[in-house]
Amino acid sequence: MQILGIETSCDDTGVAVVENGRRVIYSEISSQVELHRPYGGVVPEIASRAHIENLLPLLSRCLEETKLSLYDFDAVAVTYTPGLAGCLLVGVSFAKALAYSLKKPLVGVNHLEAHIYTIALDAQEERIPPFPHLSLLVSGGHTALYRVDGWNQLNRIGGTKDDAAGEAFDKVAKALQLGFPGGPIIQKRAADFAGEWINFPRPMLHEGYDFSFSGLKTAVVNFLRERELDEEEKTRIAASFQRAAIDVLVAKTLRAAEDHSLHHISLVGGVSANQPLREELLRRAEQKGYTVYLPEKRFSMDNGAMVAGLAYHYVQAGKISDLTLNARP
Ligand code: KG4
Ligand code: ZN
Repeated sequence: MQILGIETSCDDTGVAVVENGRRVIYSEISSQVELHRPYGGVVPEIASRAHIENLLPLLSRCLEETKLSLYDFDAVAVTYTPGLAGCLLVGVSFAKALAYSLKKPLVGVNHLEAHIYTIALDAQEERIPPFPHLSLLVSGGHTALYRVDGWNQLNRIGGTKDDAAGEAFDKVAKALQLGFPGGPIIQKRAADFAGEWINFPRPMLHEGYDFSFSGLKTAVVNFLRERELDEEEKTRIAASFQRAAIDVLVAKTLRAAEDHSLHHISLVGGVSANQPLREELLRRAEQKGYTVYLPEKRFSMDNGAMVAGLAYHYVQAGKISDLTLNARP
């Protein structure tokens, strides 16, 4: 079964084809980073307009490169929740029109479940965590821990009370005038750092499974307001912020794993591309005898393959949408 997957929930337009939920035949993303860079963050109106412009050319290229025809798809899948309203609407409308004209099933997919599913894309059987497992989803819009009982059976154990982890990376990078998106830029800066760490707060480190990144971000912003910022100091702040964020993410994840007896842990979402986070979670989880599962980096950021892949399981479970499917921000 070949499913076409469409992703437009935020600032990446994704189109992909996945076979039987696992084998990624095609996956292409049109990034809007350059459009949003001048604003230091995603501008929703610009993002939805860009999705409109990107979708048809992406689909045409997909058909050209895969030599598939639209009629070869067994279903059309699209992210319908959660995300930016205008952006979701573009994808949902596009997918509905396609499914209707092709007389193929329409499958509305949850973006968070799709991120968690990335672990199964193009993966060997032993690299896919068994159920139940724990998943740390860290992206620009979400930071949460889930007990995963099935690919579309998530139970939220904890999550951010305010900013998402990726959002904090982006805001700190903006405050340091390092550019957008902040995550990869901060990681690169931090890699060069070998000086004295700044001891930024680790919010809610010792309590429960919830996160708060707004306090950490504010502490960084207050710290940098008080000093002259040369490049060296910017690097020190970036590295110390990253370390504090990783400390909290890893500590909470391991606590949740222990308390819930979930010893298989997946790390997914845009921030899961962060190499020091991957390494720290792997290192500390291994010490406890837990197994960590990481998606291929090309599936960390928003993409259509995670939508098409998960949709296969929705279809198996009879979760087909009808043409009343609507965006749910
Ligand atoms: O999952 P994603 O593509 O979009 C959302 O659903 O939000 O995640 C984008 C986020 C951005 O905040 C970006 O700064 C962050 O992921 N990110 C990273 C890294 N690569 C992307 N954060 C830290 N380190 C990275 N290497
Ligand atoms: Zn996402």
